[in-house]
Amino acid sequence: MNSQKRILGMICIALTGLVSGPAPADDLDQLANGMIQLINQIQKDKNPTGNITRFNQGKSLGCFNAEFDVAEGLPAELGKGLFQKPGRYKSQVRFASASTFDDSEKDLRGMSIKVFGVAGESLSGVNGEQHFLLNSYPALFVDTPETFYKFIQATYQDKRWKFFLNPLDSHLNSLWIVFKARDNHSSPFDIRYWSTTPYALGDGKPVKYSVEPCSTISSELPSSLTENYLRDSMQKHLAQSGVCFDFMVQPQTNDSDMPIEDSSVIWDEDDSPFQKVARINIEAQDFSNPAALASCEKVTFNPWQSLPEHEPLGRMNQVRNKVYTFTSRFRLGENSRRQSR
Ligand code: HEM
Repeated sequence: MNSQKRILGMICIALTGLVSGPAPADDLDQLANGMIQLINQIQKDKNPTGNITRFNQGKSLGCFNAEFDVAEGLPAELGKGLFQKPGRYKSQVRFASASTFDDSEKDLRGMSIKVFGVAGESLSGVNGEQHFLLNSYPALFVDTPETFYKFIQATYQDKRWKFFLNPLDSHLNSLWIVFKARDNHSSPFDIRYWSTTPYALGDGKPVKYSVEPCSTISSELPSSLTENYLRDSMQKHLAQSGVCFDFMVQPQTNDSDMPIEDSSVIWDEDDSPFQKVARINIEAQDFSNPAALASCEKVTFNPWQSLPEHEPLGRMNQVRNKVYTFTSRFRLGENSRRQSR
């Protein structure tokens, strides 16, 4: 990045009091504003021409039309909100790589789900859609939104190592989680995903989500990994057979081992196993032609696009509503301005 521009940007942001340290812990709105400014600037600097990609989960591996089937006969404590009665919903699923654009590099994958035709008012966005956002590792690499803010600051300063290894303020547990979470996966269709942050389930116990493959086949990891081998694997899978995932919830059984406010803690499945509430089916379709990939770039997700029965819980989720709304708006607005030039 042009160093003069970076210095100017730093001064502007420092003047608004954002680089001098995270916002006060109780002021999540200020924290969200700080994140938005930095994220938008990072994305602009990283993509000075062409398309601005998402700050997280930037490489679209593919967007798919899917069916979301709510299971029959769920016990009363699970049958809340979307899961209140059995039903088949149209759905869209996006798979992505978190930070790399070359599939041969190890990375975390993301799975974002939209369920359409949902009855009831949404907490945010438009009515009729329920969104779920998941990652391919059960813990987030940071514990609180304040720590996430420090990571974004370090990214803006192009000094991520400082976030992880600064002797005065190191984040070794974050480094360890990133190390464990990154992998060369055989296919996004073969792996499990987790919400990492908790959500309400009606008036019952908080839950975390996980999505687990239930397809009859899986892919082999190719002996030589190419830049787009993950799309090739998904194409080969769909040419042979449909794709199936089970959508599951894990109720919280206690607040000490299963905290709401520390996203880096994995809730133990021995203490509380995940329970299936729905199934996702994806049939053969052409998802990797240029038009399909371009339209995948325009899709947006937000965990707050949700029925109140599935309200996102905890401070980490709290800041996400504003961040997703304004960073995606900026990304799409900037991209359409650039295309019309
Ligand atoms: C404070 C915490 C977080 C911040 C600031 C944050 C920030 C972002 C941003 C800026 C985007 C791109 C939005 C866009 O341009 O459309 C994004 C996308 C995404 N994030 Fe987060 N994120 C946070 C926590 C999480 C957590 C806990 C998960 C858990 C799984 C997650 C999963 C995802 C996924 C899957 C996407 C891709 C959405 C898509 O397919 O468009 N994020 N995040």
